[in-house]
Amino acid sequence: MTRLGALAAACGVGLTSAVLVAGGLQTSTRYSSNSDFQSFCASCHGTSGKGDGVLARSLSKRPADLTQLKKKNDGVYPADAVFKVIDAGHESADMPAWTQVFAKSQESAGTGAAKERIRSLVDYLETIQQKP
Ligand code: HEC
Repeated sequence: MTRLGALAAACGVGLTSAVLVAGGLQTSTRYSSNSDFQSFCASCHGTSGKGDGVLARSLSKRPADLTQLKKKNDGVYPADAVFKVIDAGHESADMPAWTQVFAKSQESAGTGAAKERIRSLVDYLETIQQKP
C-alpha cells in the first residue's frame, strides 16, 4: 500500500469510529430503544427478550434469549457482536437485517441513522442482561 493509501485507510477507520461514538451519545435522545424493541423485536424475542414472542413457535429456528448474551459470553456483554447480528441479520434464520429496514423508515432514513438506531438497541439489550 502506498503511504497515501495507508493514510486514507487510517482516516477511514477513524471516521467510522467517530460516527459510531457520536451515534452512541445521541441515541438516548433520538430513538426510543425500548419502544423500538417492543415494535420490531418482541414479536419473536418476546416482550422481555427471553425468546418467547408470539411468532417464536412458527419459526424454523427458535429466537435467541436476549437476556443471556452476557452470561453466554463469560460475563462480558458482547456489544460489537450484538451490533453485527442486528445490523446484518442472521443468515440461517428468519431475522431480517435491520439496517436495511430502518434505513427505509422515515425516522431513521439512510444507513447512518439506521446504524445509530441499532446502537441504541444494542445499549437497550445491555440493560436487560440477566446477572451472571
Ligand atoms: C422474525 C423473527 C425475529 C425478529 C422480528 C427479530 N429476531 Fe432476532 N433472532 C431471531 C432468531 C430466530 C434468532 C436466532 C438465530 C440463530 O440462532 O441462528 C435471532 C437472533 C438474534 C440475536 C443473536 C443472539 C445470539 O445469541 O447471538 C440478536 C442479538 C437478536 N436476534 C436481536 C434482535 C433485535 C434487536 C431485534 C429487533 C430489532 C430482533 N432480533 C428481531 C428472530 C427474530
